[in-house]
Amino acid sequence: MSSEWINVARVGEIENNDCQLFDLDDEDIAIYNLDGEYFAIEDRCTHDGGDLAGGWVEDGCAVCPRHGARFDIRTGKVMAPPAYEDIHAFPVRVDQDMIQIQDDRE
Ligand code: FES
Repeated sequence: MSSEWINVARVGEIENNDCQLFDLDDEDIAIYNLDGEYFAIEDRCTHDGGDLAGGWVEDGCAVCPRHGARFDIRTGKVMAPPAYEDIHAFPVRVDQDMIQIQDDRE
């Protein structure tokens, strides 16, 4: 766990209701823009490892392109099966024009 803030994207680089991937120690983190607010979640569906960034955004949820599980982009909470486990949502802040996340996992 680290309290350091990591630059992951520049403000303006990510379209509304879209995301951009960031490689954090060989793991993809998806950085989403929801109406000008930024959120970061692990890009790995807890059902069977689907790539959420390859899916789409609906009602603030990332929809897995493989079997349709949904995760709340703001919290990482699972909202629809066939996934039942939440994914990790990282703390995010904007510092000047940089979007930053903190890796607060154990
Ligand atoms: S891998 Fe995501 S719903 Fe199955």
